[in-house]
Amino acid sequence: MAGESKKWVLLVTAQTPTNIAVIKYWGKRDESLILPINDSISVTLDPAHLCTTTTVSVSPSFDQDRMWLNGKEISLSGGRFQRCLKEIRARASDVEDEKKGIKITKKDWENLHLHISSYNNFPTAAGLASSAAGFACLVFSLAKLMNVKEDLGQLSAIARQGSGSACRSLYGGFVKWIMGKNDDGSDSIAVQLADEKHWDELVIVIAVVSSRQKETSSTSGMRETVETSMLIKHRAKEVVPKRIVEMEEAIKNRDFPSFAHLACADSNQFHAVCMDTSPPIFYMNDTSHRIIGCVEKWNRSEESPQVAYTFDAGPNAVMIARSRKVAALLLQRLLFHFPPNADTDLNSYVIGDKSILQDVG
Ligand code: DP6
Repeated sequence: MAGESKKWVLLVTAQTPTNIAVIKYWGKRDESLILPINDSISVTLDPAHLCTTTTVSVSPSFDQDRMWLNGKEISLSGGRFQRCLKEIRARASDVEDEKKGIKITKKDWENLHLHISSYNNFPTAAGLASSAAGFACLVFSLAKLMNVKEDLGQLSAIARQGSGSACRSLYGGFVKWIMGKNDDGSDSIAVQLADEKHWDELVIVIAVVSSRQKETSSTSGMRETVETSMLIKHRAKEVVPKRIVEMEEAIKNRDFPSFAHLACADSNQFHAVCMDTSPPIFYMNDTSHRIIGCVEKWNRSEESPQVAYTFDAGPNAVMIARSRKVAALLLQRLLFHFPPNADTDLNSYVIGDKSILQDVG
């Protein structure tokens, strides 16, 4: 290593948007490798509104790996962080920056320490898939820093080991996480179904019903579901495989009625499975239920659906409008029925297009 001077720092910054599943991942067949019991499909959001920005840096003067999340130092001792770091370090290659006179060999990476700083521009752990954007961004920026030569599919298998849904955030547009068959998880990767330009009429509106941290994390919630729910077995084996085929078709054909029908039905079944868990898990609240009622009523009053809704492990509503015009009408309706900070705990709205992974390093 050209390390005579301890003064140099090499850094990479990347930005990764979060993703929202329209066919949900819920349940693992392998807890430590994070292997799911069904395929899932998501849409990647606009990084302007919901993204993680991560800077990873390396210097001979760092004496340990350290990480800050939203400005606060957090422990890196968790198994998921360690697994991602280990997998990336194992694939590191030589890095040379002639201008700065830096040369790092593959071997050097084993002894060099990292400083990682990550920011979310949206509520952390409130059912807006913060861990998805976080681990995808961590893996992507580390791979850049360490000159890892793997393709996005291979990187997705590493991000998956940080948080399952993270594997889908490495691509823009519509993304499928293939559950895979292998015990080692090598074929449990994400693939892009269509890029972000494919269906660009769609507009996503998120109603932030609550930015409080959820009571039951996705990780423990899905573990309890797999252990106690009968419905999850039927869902994973009978329902989701058919829905995946239909959803891929709907996306390919830009068929909004089918897309909306499948996304809403899948969100509702996911929450039914949570209720079928013992003890039952409630992620949605009264405001979430009222939003569903509002969208359902509107959709039924038109010739075909205008808006799809989906809720992850929290009360926040993610709504997908079929066009900009519909998004404007949706916002009007929401503001009328749910004025921010009125009798509901709804506090803001976020609007965004679908979008793409950005490398700003
Ligand atoms: C409801 O990916 O957060 O958002 O793999 O344990 O980290 P871990 O869980 P996580 O679960 C996401 C669940 C979901 C559905 C989805 O994103 O597909």
